[in-house]
Amino acid sequence: MEFGMRTTVADLQAMKRRGQKIPMLTAYDYTSALMADRAGLPMLLVGDSLGMVIQGHDTTLPVTVDDIVRHTQFVARGAPSALIVADMPFMSYATLEEAIANSRKLMAVGGAQAVKLEGGKPVLETVRRLTDLGVPVMGHLGFRPQSQHQIGLQVQGKDLAGAKALLAEALALEAAGAFAIVLELVPGALAAKVSANLTIPVIGIGAGADCDGQVQVWHDILGLYGDKPPRHAKRFADLGPVIDTALKAYVSEVRAMTFPTDQNTSRIEADILDQVGS
Ligand code: KIV
Repeated sequence: MEFGMRTTVADLQAMKRRGQKIPMLTAYDYTSALMADRAGLPMLLVGDSLGMVIQGHDTTLPVTVDDIVRHTQFVARGAPSALIVADMPFMSYATLEEAIANSRKLMAVGGAQAVKLEGGKPVLETVRRLTDLGVPVMGHLGFRPQSQHQIGLQVQGKDLAGAKALLAEALALEAAGAFAIVLELVPGALAAKVSANLTIPVIGIGAGADCDGQVQVWHDILGLYGDKPPRHAKRFADLGPVIDTALKAYVSEVRAMTFPTDQNTSRIEADILDQVGS
C-alpha cells in the first residue's frame, strides 16, 4: 500500500481472504500516529484504554466521547494511511439515538473512519442500524473492559456455554454488518475457530496467533506502562528506562549548566544589546 492511500474496510477484508495477517495498534496522539503509520500499520485504534494509559484512571469507564473525539483528531492528523477506528466509550451507545449521534461525532468531528463498540446480543440492533447508515462498525467480544465489573477481569469462553455463546455472537455481529471483530482474552483454539467461521477479520488480543490479526496497546508493546507487560503483550522495546535515563540527564545538565550550550542559543550583536539599556 502506498503512503497516503488510506486503508479501507474492503482492503482489510481482502487481507483476510489472502491470509495476510493484520497488525493493529492503539494510538492516542499525533506523534505516535505518525510513527505507527510510517511503520505500515493498516489500522489504528483510538482506544478507550486512553483512560488508563493517558489519563491515569484504573479503568476505561471515565472516558468520554469528547475525549475520544479529541484524541482521534490528533491521530487523524498524524496517520494519512491507516484506517482509524474510534472506540465508543462506556454508555455512549446505550440507546440507538446516542449511538447514532456519538458515532457521527467520532467520524465527522474526530475524523475516524470506523467505530468500535463492545458486546454481542445487546448491541446487534445498534450495529445493524449504524452499518445501514454508513458507519463501519467493529465489534468487541470476549473480555470487554467496559463490563469488567460484571464479568470479571478474566479469560472468556472457557466453558461450553461460554464458548458456544461467543461463536454465536461473533456470527450474529457479522450478520448485523460488523466489518471486523476484536476478540480479547479468549482461549487460542476457540479464537481460531471463530476466525475460521467468519468471513470478516477477527483481530485478537490475548487470543492466540490464529486470529486474522492482532491488536496491542501502544504503551504495552513499548514498555511505557506498568512494571511488566500483561501476559497477552510483548515488549518490543523497553522505552520506560530509556526515557527515565534521558530525563535524569536533562535534570542534571540543567542544574550543572552543561545544557543549554552556545549551540542551543541564538546570538545578538553586542551594540544592539548595549542599546537595550540596563
Ligand atoms: O481500548 C483499547 O485499547 C481496546 C483494545 C484493547 C482492543 O479496546
